[in-house]
Amino acid sequence: MEPDIIPEEHLQEKLNEIFKTWPPHPSGDIYYTDLPTLAQQIDKSARIIDVGCGLNLYKQHFVNLIGIDPATDEADYKVTVEEFVTNQRFEIAFCFGSINYGSESRVKTQIAKTVDLLEPENTIYWRQRPYIKDNPYHNRVQVFDWTLEKNKEFCQYFGYTLDQYETEPNTRVYAKWIKSNT
Ligand SMILES: C[S@@+](CC[C@H](N)C(=O)[O-])C[C@H]1O[C@@H](n2cnc3c(N)ncnc32)[C@H](O)[C@@H]1O
Repeated sequence: MEPDIIPEEHLQEKLNEIFKTWPPHPSGDIYYTDLPTLAQQIDKSARIIDVGCGLNLYKQHFVNLIGIDPATDEADYKVTVEEFVTNQRFEIAFCFGSINYGSESRVKTQIAKTVDLLEPENTIYWRQRPYIKDNPYHNRVQVFDWTLEKNKEFCQYFGYTLDQYETEPNTRVYAKWIKSNT
């Protein structure tokens, strides 16, 4: 029998418990979103919000990057994206494996909050982990089923163009959303 999925009101608590001891990504495992690849295409001084920054590893290169994460001491602000308050507006958001859990309505709320933190013209870089049946790492957590169709639908809903969408060999997905005035 499938173990019960954790109710959404306890989901963040469970995620924090999981991610406070999550290991850093082994190099070579994350393809499109590893630091050397991003460093080649994004200006070093770009204003970046790293949503769910984990160990805040991208900060070593990007000098104006702020990392937020409710589970890790390495974050600049140890908060969820839902709770984060600032007057700053960013040109870029990284959402690498962080907006990935719970219901569609939870995910949409988190995206809306991320979009509010950004300049009118901005780019969101994504690493998404699609739902895989019986993945033991899911820990009774509902993994949002990211698909190409969902990326298209959400881009339209939030006013973005889906600039790039790639499936990595490890089954994760890389996506790049661009919002421009043209
Ligand atoms: C799979 S890890 C990825 C960490 C990091 N981005 C990386 O690429 O190594 C997902 C991260 O999202 C964070 N997270 C979970 N819920 C979050 C929320 N509501 N707001 C911001 N970050 C969250 C977790 O604490 C965790 O560090």
